[in-house]
Amino acid sequence: MNFRRCRTMIVEPLEKPHFDLDGLLSGGSGVSFEQSLQVVAAHLPAPCAVDVASCLWLLQCSAEQWQPLPMEPDARQRVLALLEQGLLVSDDPAYATAAAAEQQVRDSQWWPLSALHYQHSRWDGVDSVGDMERSQLTTAQDLVSNFGPPPAEAPIRRPGAQPLPRCDDDPTQAQLQARATCRNFDGTRAVPLPMLARLLQQVLMAQAHVETEPGVRFLKKNIPSAGSLHPLEAYVVARNVERVPPGLYHYHATEHELGPIASTPNDLDSFCHCLLAGQHWFASAPVLLILTCRFERTFWKYRSHAKAYRAVTLDAGHVSQAIYSAATAQGLGAFVTAAINEAEAERALGLQPMAEGALAVCGVGWRATERVTAELDPLGRVWPVTR
Ligand SMILES: Cc1cc2nc3c(=O)[nH]c(=O)nc-3n(C[C@H](O)[C@H](O)[C@H](O)COP(=O)(O)O)c2cc1C
Repeated sequence: MNFRRCRTMIVEPLEKPHFDLDGLLSGGSGVSFEQSLQVVAAHLPAPCAVDVASCLWLLQCSAEQWQPLPMEPDARQRVLALLEQGLLVSDDPAYATAAAAEQQVRDSQWWPLSALHYQHSRWDGVDSVGDMERSQLTTAQDLVSNFGPPPAEAPIRRPGAQPLPRCDDDPTQAQLQARATCRNFDGTRAVPLPMLARLLQQVLMAQAHVETEPGVRFLKKNIPSAGSLHPLEAYVVARNVERVPPGLYHYHATEHELGPIASTPNDLDSFCHCLLAGQHWFASAPVLLILTCRFERTFWKYRSHAKAYRAVTLDAGHVSQAIYSAATAQGLGAFVTAAINEAEAERALGLQPMAEGALAVCGVGWRATERVTAELDPLGRVWPVTR
């Protein structure tokens, strides 16, 4: 059996505070800090705790050259423990899963720090609403009592600033102002298929394509995309759409069609609740759109590029704004959130996250008649102003 170190990893020193009664009784602060190390690897979904000796050993181990399992018992034991954690990879089939995941990151063109960031900012089983409630960080008042007042809502004015005219006759203004993140959907009212189709056509459908070289095609869409690569895909969770059986579908941007996903979860309600990390105000939307990125498409051009991941998240922002606009124009509510359990989407869609991973979830649907969850509508464009 041969082994080598995983290529993309960082060591994170941790210091965990804990109550120290002896320290307090001997005149100290009562708080002491326990130091430890963890290794964060781009191919592993969770950090691995390591002791100092193993960490030093790992840092000295080659990530490029294979070496045989040492004969000396202590060294052998250390290698086997690091293989179990997946920080070392081996050609032994017993460790094939970690080796395949590591090879995938190795073969990809992720910029190392982005790969670490994306892998370790993915959530699995997070209940963000429950967490906020437990930490009493739900309202603005909670935030102020925990963190003090926020920085000012706008920077200070510049001396000599030139006042600009306001265009009160702007015909698009009414529609722009009618956009407000919807947190009150009527999940029982079906979205007509033509309305969903129109939205997808306006936002995500390829309007044309250009072939610059044989086999090199660029899509033209109504939204911009870094490098013209349009790496984002949309998976539609149809909860209540006329003439569409509830389930998961892939939206095909050139064919303008919904392709069923074979492994649709049996219980769509709990899937959506978990996908949206407990945000029940979004989970009732009749249509969700899971935005994923085919990273390989972007990394074909932006190879190991420090800006590539930032660019694809900006792409997702453009898609979500266009979804808001297209939904609002049809009288539908819309939302976007990045507070999602990516792993839930990956399991349902059968994705390898470092090749194609979820970035955000949008949703659209009819608004409820009653506002139960807060929305930001101070102009009263969506809800009657209550005094
Ligand atoms: C990137 C992004 C992530 C967001 N995530 C959440 C979220 O997790 N939960 C939520 O209720 N709203 C979320 N929102 C909606 C914002 O809270 C909302 O845009 C903001 O309150 C302003 O309200 P408006 O969109 O109605 O103008 C998100 C918006 C953006 C752009």
